[in-house]
Amino acid sequence: MAKERVLEVRDLELHYFTRKGVVRAVDKISFDLRQSETLGVVGESGCGKTTMGTALLNMPTPPGRIVGGQILLDGHDVLKLSETEIRRRVRWETISMVFQGAMNCLTPVYTIKKQMKETLRQHREMSRQEMDARMKKYLNLVGLSDDVLRRYPHELSGGMKQRVVIAMALFLEPKVVICDEPTTALDVVVQAQVINLLKDLKDELQVSFIFITHDLSIEAEVSDRIMIMYAGRIAEIGTNEQIYGPQGPAHPYTQRLLAATPRLHEEVAELAFIPGTPPDLVAPPTGCRFHPRCHVVMERCSRDDVGLREIEPDHLVACWRCFND
Ligand SMILES: Nc1ncnc2c1ncn2[C@@H]1O[C@H](COP(=O)(O)OP(=O)(O)O)[C@@H](O)[C@H]1O
Ligand SMILES: [Mg+2]
Repeated sequence: MAKERVLEVRDLELHYFTRKGVVRAVDKISFDLRQSETLGVVGESGCGKTTMGTALLNMPTPPGRIVGGQILLDGHDVLKLSETEIRRRVRWETISMVFQGAMNCLTPVYTIKKQMKETLRQHREMSRQEMDARMKKYLNLVGLSDDVLRRYPHELSGGMKQRVVIAMALFLEPKVVICDEPTTALDVVVQAQVINLLKDLKDELQVSFIFITHDLSIEAEVSDRIMIMYAGRIAEIGTNEQIYGPQGPAHPYTQRLLAATPRLHEEVAELAFIPGTPPDLVAPPTGCRFHPRCHVVMERCSRDDVGLREIEPDHLVACWRCFND
């Protein structure tokens, strides 16, 4: 049975209005997020992953603005709500985000208890006992003991701080949690622990995760479905099996990205690399944005804009090579 969709994103556009021009960081992207799944979002640095996360919270970083599209939560368009309603019902309440580097933004002069309490107080009317119970429950859930509450950030390791910010993204009990590069700043062993933690949390809670990383090998470990972004757009979306299975991904960019990724648990003879650099999003290439770097480019690729189409159930690709017309 198809899982219920918790989030439907339609033609979402977020542009940065800079002196150099309009940066089309998120350019008409559409996808669904299903109940209790982890959707991985991958792509090279600068392709718009973080921007997409902030768009989902309706929290663009200046000079960014959402200029089009819909974000449907239970069928209702979040972008039509007032800021007050978004704050009361959506941001942190229904969709929360662990920002890139958030663990380094814990306030150094406050104990963990004080910072967690502050966040809870802004959103919930709770007695002191209820607050304590809620904080302990979520700290324990991320594998930390109660005594972390009395500690200051500098008394915790990187992995522990990352667990604290994940607990804070969870403790208002949202439906969707966006994790932006949650393992990037951690060493390999701690990285693996955080990945295992996210897997356990997904099984334990009725939460859907959007897991953003530039590292395709990590997505293979955690995600049910993978979404590959290129230059502000979606190149491909598929299940873990469709992207990593024997048939391999369909989009030339994903194929190259995979060939350039050292796979966990596998010996790799030589890593490929993708020639060229990601495009300037003020003046992106015409047609398919990947065409200047594509190894199987055709004549029409520079001419005709290409959108996502389903090539088999759950598998969507934006590549003229994959279509019959
Ligand atoms: N505050 C900002 N002002 C102007 N441009 C920005 C801003 N934030 C991001 N961008 C641009 O938007 C594009 C996407 O950036 P980002 O979403 O951070 O990518 P990613 O998270 O995939 O590395 C990049 O071209 C980046 O330079
Ligand atoms: Mg980013």
